[in-house]
Amino acid sequence: MKKLAVIGGTGIAKIEGFVITEDITCDTPYGKPSSILSRGTYAGREIIFLPRHGDPPVIPPHKINYRANLRALKDNGVNTILGINAVGGITSGMIPGRLVVPDQIIDYTWGRKHTFFEEGLTHPVYVEFTRPYDDTLRDLIINSAPPAGVEILPYGTYGATQGPRLESAAEISRLERDGCDIVGMTGMPECALARELELAYASISLVVNRAAGKGEEGITMDLIQNNMDLAVMDLTRLFQELIPRI
Ligand code: HPA
Repeated sequence: MKKLAVIGGTGIAKIEGFVITEDITCDTPYGKPSSILSRGTYAGREIIFLPRHGDPPVIPPHKINYRANLRALKDNGVNTILGINAVGGITSGMIPGRLVVPDQIIDYTWGRKHTFFEEGLTHPVYVEFTRPYDDTLRDLIINSAPPAGVEILPYGTYGATQGPRLESAAEISRLERDGCDIVGMTGMPECALARELELAYASISLVVNRAAGKGEEGITMDLIQNNMDLAVMDLTRLFQELIPRI
């Protein structure tokens, strides 16, 4: 039985149509998660929702306690996670307003607590990460898009940067040479920590701007907000189809 959680990103402080039945306050050996966990129902299915940046959303990407978030979800019976991430589009198809289901990730973050396997070990643990996202969950997302009437991009490499500033044009060129299609600040270590806890994890990434040097305009908060609104309309339609299938 899949027990699903949604980790909401920038602009996703709540899910339209989600009826909360219980607020869960929790603590973990790694500290407190970003906020209380909200348990409730969406389209007839029980889910837990956690806003990654807190409620209100005041925690910047590099200050998020990713370990506490993942551990708190695991402790509450979750085994499947949809991570929602706002991203910049690097390669040509990554158009603002579009939803992407990344299949690969490159980690450029630093100084974040990025593993559960560092203390009290009897032997080093090397977690398999060739396919960083759960392909069964990715397929469910991808297959739910046509009946939802939503266009999504079913592949892409996510470049996870440290933030909180946006990138320089040269940094984006480097990411592109490395093979990144999208760039965001919250993909890692969340994805790897989920794997360490054996949680099925996939990201739905919302393209909210063209990455630095890739668009005609500068990156403004107004621009990001407008594209976010477009992407969230598609995300809402996708969720209605997807969540009952999980
Ligand atoms: N870069 C990094 N993170 C982001 C961006 C970006 O352009 N847009 C949204 N999150």
